[in-house]
Amino acid sequence: MRVPNFVIASAIATATALKSPGPGPNALARTPPMGWMSWQVFRCETDCGSHPDACINEKLYMQMADAMSEGGYLAAGYNQVSIDDCWEDLKGRNADNELVADPTRFPSGMKALGDHMHAKKVRFGTYSDAGTMTCGGFPGSKGYEEVDAKTFASWGVDYLKLDGCYNNKAGFVHDYPAMGTALHASGRDIVYSCSWPAYLGGDESAKPFDAMINAGCNLWRNWIDIQCDWGVLDRIIEHWGRYGEVMVAAAGPGHWHDPDMLLIGAGCLTLDEERTQMAIWSIAAAPLIMGNDLRQVPVVSKTILLNKDAIAVDQDSLGKMGKRLQAASSSTQIWARELSGGDVAVALYNREAGSPAGIREIAEHKYCAKAKAMGGEPGFGFSLLACRDAVANDTDCASGYFHYSRSYNGQCKCALDACDNRVGGESYNIYKLDPNAGPAGSNITIVFSDVGLQGQACVYDIWAQEKVGEFQGSYTAQNVSFHGTAFLRLSSCDSIADAIV
Ligand code: GLA
Repeated sequence: MRVPNFVIASAIATATALKSPGPGPNALARTPPMGWMSWQVFRCETDCGSHPDACINEKLYMQMADAMSEGGYLAAGYNQVSIDDCWEDLKGRNADNELVADPTRFPSGMKALGDHMHAKKVRFGTYSDAGTMTCGGFPGSKGYEEVDAKTFASWGVDYLKLDGCYNNKAGFVHDYPAMGTALHASGRDIVYSCSWPAYLGGDESAKPFDAMINAGCNLWRNWIDIQCDWGVLDRIIEHWGRYGEVMVAAAGPGHWHDPDMLLIGAGCLTLDEERTQMAIWSIAAAPLIMGNDLRQVPVVSKTILLNKDAIAVDQDSLGKMGKRLQAASSSTQIWARELSGGDVAVALYNREAGSPAGIREIAEHKYCAKAKAMGGEPGFGFSLLACRDAVANDTDCASGYFHYSRSYNGQCKCALDACDNRVGGESYNIYKLDPNAGPAGSNITIVFSDVGLQGQACVYDIWAQEKVGEFQGSYTAQNVSFHGTAFLRLSSCDSIADAIV
């Protein structure tokens, strides 16, 4: 087996970078950061009276640090809890121009919160904005970079996400390097996450990543905000697929592209979709920043998050970002990443939509009038799998027919019949419970020479965490579920024992 050559090594354009302002690259984030961040689930909920366990306050972050440390996440490598927007006092800065936390929601103060995290061996992340205000309308850091960097350092902050609202393309060129310089001068090692490219549109080939590296950015949010929804996740995966080639050139130890938070365990994806996100993020050398409620992650999702072989791909010491091999999108995709020691990680991803096990899709029919909504909120917020289980457990739905609409935020209703003769109303996909309906999927083949491996390779299945065997020339993953991914590590057969610990 020879060294894979499918990832074209490309140096950062140092000549250009040297002309850009900023402190230059620091020595931090040699592998993509791993942790948790509040935005995806808790947003800007500041009403702690009505939402005592789900508002942005010190208790929330302390509990997340506790859950990270005690729930096995820390041991697996997730070592950071990050505040996002809406932590600040809306009244503004204090007399010394320093940012202050909302005194009602953070009565012990930020230093105490950082101490709590550090006592749990958890790193402390916080959030500000390169503009005059944060996206949520709280005070921003523009013009206050030095004082803010000093304040963060005095609180023991280990990571800063600097958002880009209330600023613009011309302002970023000065303001992101200004914060990078200030963080460097603070004397504390603070990993710097820049949202700069997320505000420069969709063309990744037109973004000044070299200037970001020179500004001291260790990672950057490239594009749209993730939402708890397969459709948005799918768009982000497609964007990474489309621009992989140009993005690979700017990624490496100390500077990573960030496709946004992991939805795994947040309750909006099927398990196949959760595995797909974990696989693609790991191939893409993306930060693994969870956007769930760590206090209540289902065991099956936690197993995905803690999969040590997936994490080993993400955190591989070679630090080479992987990418989709095909230029154009197709329903079955091959993503690959070169790893240290000559191994290659491949994700065989089935993008096609379809039904998971136990469900037969019978056709598209009109709205079924004799329907009953499932779940708490009338009929909303169910995944197809959750809908299947709700129907199976409800005696009123003995017919086994149900309709489900992803576009209506997971609307799920049982139907008393197949609704064949109904007309009018909106159309839904009608399904029927069918215990014999096996998981439908596609076979996807990886040809070893396409990822620079000649002859024979040993195939290790990352989800099953077991060696599959030795194969000559190619390997076919059978029946890869719709929206699912076979995630493999390919090695020369004699090295597999060393590579997989
Ligand atoms: C932007 C960011 C999000 C989050 C919100 C907070 O939309 O991209 O990740 O930080 O602002 O307001």
